[in-house]
Amino acid sequence: MKLSKIHAREILDSRGNPTVEVEVTINGTTSRGISPSGASTGEKEAVELRDGDQSRYQGKGVEIAVSGLNKEVNSAMAGQTFESQEAFDKRLIELDGTENKSRLGANSMLAASIAFARASASSKQIPLYRQLVERDQYIMPVPCMNVVNGGRHADNNVDFQEFMIAPHNAPTFKESIRMGEEVFHTLKSLLTGKGYSTGVGDEGGFAPNLKSNEEAVEVIMEAIKKAGYKPGEDISICLDPATSELWKDGKYSLFKSTKENFTSDQLIDLWEQWIDKYPIVLLEDGLGENDWEGWKKMTDRLGKKVELVGDDIFCTNPEIIQQGIDAGIGNSVLIKLNQIGTIWETLQAVELAQKNNYHCFISHRSGETEDTTIADLVVATNAGHIKTGSGCLSERVSKFNQLLRIEEELGGQSSFAGKNTFKKS
Ligand code: PGA
Ligand code: ZN
Repeated sequence: MKLSKIHAREILDSRGNPTVEVEVTINGTTSRGISPSGASTGEKEAVELRDGDQSRYQGKGVEIAVSGLNKEVNSAMAGQTFESQEAFDKRLIELDGTENKSRLGANSMLAASIAFARASASSKQIPLYRQLVERDQYIMPVPCMNVVNGGRHADNNVDFQEFMIAPHNAPTFKESIRMGEEVFHTLKSLLTGKGYSTGVGDEGGFAPNLKSNEEAVEVIMEAIKKAGYKPGEDISICLDPATSELWKDGKYSLFKSTKENFTSDQLIDLWEQWIDKYPIVLLEDGLGENDWEGWKKMTDRLGKKVELVGDDIFCTNPEIIQQGIDAGIGNSVLIKLNQIGTIWETLQAVELAQKNNYHCFISHRSGETEDTTIADLVVATNAGHIKTGSGCLSERVSKFNQLLRIEEELGGQSSFAGKNTFKKS
């Protein structure tokens, strides 16, 4: 596949911050890729290159990243032939020349990598998911919809970042989305009835001030029932408390609500109480990224009951994932493309996890765009579950809409993941 041009520009993400868009032209076909951006980032994520020039976008501009692509990367790669995603991404990695992608920036490298994957698919006239992984049979994911937002994603008093519903008892993805949206709208009227705000956070979930963190789970339980579904049987609950953000002076601090401090053991106790009381099937970042000892205890205590997903602790990085597997940490890996910075390395991370019997949970970032690559990625990898926001906001539902198209296109070549997609080790 002969690459004739790489062209980048600065555009905006869903928070109104600049991000990198790249166009790659192969065999006369031009395709785009756009990089997302996180707020509760892991320390070991590949580096997002920002200008730091306070006179533009409060230092968040990406003109240096864009110019690196338009000048250096385009000169080095235009006119070259790349036979695979691996060849293209390896060349980008070589050009960057750093361990953490800090020179060219993971934001520019990922946008280029996505654009190359899309241009390759277009030039062969195949869908992106087939370009990523060709299979006879694909699995449509359970959409884990983030209906209450807290933590760094909202200005409310809820400490924990994400409260999700997983509508798994459905014959198809299309029906599971309908179930999820019905609960989302029921939740809105329930919150209104209780006198709470129905303004939304970064990922489109409601962000009310509540009496306690636990009330978020209680009101979701009420909404599931009121919408006519059975909690646990039809729809379960997933949590991402994003606890790395709570870690302060060797303790987890509920800094938005009670200001109470928890040790690792006390937080594991809390999760266990909640898991015994509510139909929770997945807990992401139940402990922080530097608390490996706590993670091991949590895995031994809770790993047989629920899927324990590592986000900040693994950073979609195959080397760190391998360390986690060796240490018996968690049983699932959160997959975010921009944490590692190329499509090829993301697929490597998924392969490593799946080969070792870990599950993969495919994820958006809190700063998103109209780019729907993760919808194709979750289908390509048969990962069985995705989180990409609540039931509203275009940058979130664009992924659901792409999955609806893919399911229709695949017809009998796909099946819906269902409840068994949630891992218990
Ligand atoms: P982020 O949040 O994109 O702000 O990191 C998502 C998550 O923590 O899973
Ligand atoms: Zn997370």
